[in-house]
Amino acid sequence: MEALPNFIIRNACSEDLPALEWEGEYRIFRRLYRRAMNEAKRGHRILLVADLIGRLIGQIFIQLHTISADPKKLPKTGYFYSFRVRSEYRNLGVGTSLVSSAEDALRRGNFQRALIGVAKDNSDALRLYERLGYRIISEDPGEWSFIDDENEVRKIVEPTFILEKYL
Ligand SMILES: CC(C)(COP(=O)(O)OP(=O)(O)OC[C@H]1O[C@@H](n2cnc3c(N)ncnc32)[C@H](O)[C@@H]1OP(=O)(O)O)[C@@H](O)C(=O)NCCC(=O)NCCS
Repeated sequence: MEALPNFIIRNACSEDLPALEWEGEYRIFRRLYRRAMNEAKRGHRILLVADLIGRLIGQIFIQLHTISADPKKLPKTGYFYSFRVRSEYRNLGVGTSLVSSAEDALRRGNFQRALIGVAKDNSDALRLYERLGYRIISEDPGEWSFIDDENEVRKIVEPTFILEKYL
């Protein structure tokens, strides 16, 4: 086993927004990240980053679902998304630490369940989630769209497995 890099996992703040674009690779998500940050400030999301001496090497975002028609019946659920680790830091445990910290954050908020969507062809991520106790519960066509940083509509079609874990 290689040594885990000496990183910390912390909440992202507004000052991190440019760095979340990873030198332009994820610039297209600028509006989504800004909206996620605003939602985090209102308590509707949690944005976690892995910070290696000031450099962001990974992230996981959590959308918090607390409202339901019958809150007694449905478990409070957090949905993980935008989960990634810089390629040069993969297979060192950073992703596992991010998921574990995200689960801890949900537990602290008395959330009972975590969900995550994974592209059906992403076997690496699927194996990681299953190793961490997630189980496939459904499938989704994975069709969605967003407006990129140049005001262009981007349509995504990515058939997805939905995985679940009770915390
Ligand atoms: C999915 C992703 C976030 C995982 O991040 P990661 O930091 O590589 O995850 P980990 O290092 O914790 O785990 C990956 C593997 O390395 C292994 N590993 C963990 N620590 C290790 C160490 N110190 N030494 C060697 N191997 C280690 C894990 O056991 C795991 O093995 P597995 O794939 O057989 O389960 C990363 O691959 C990624 O960013 N992929 C591209 C984006 C993506 O697909 N995101 C998911 C969208 S749903």
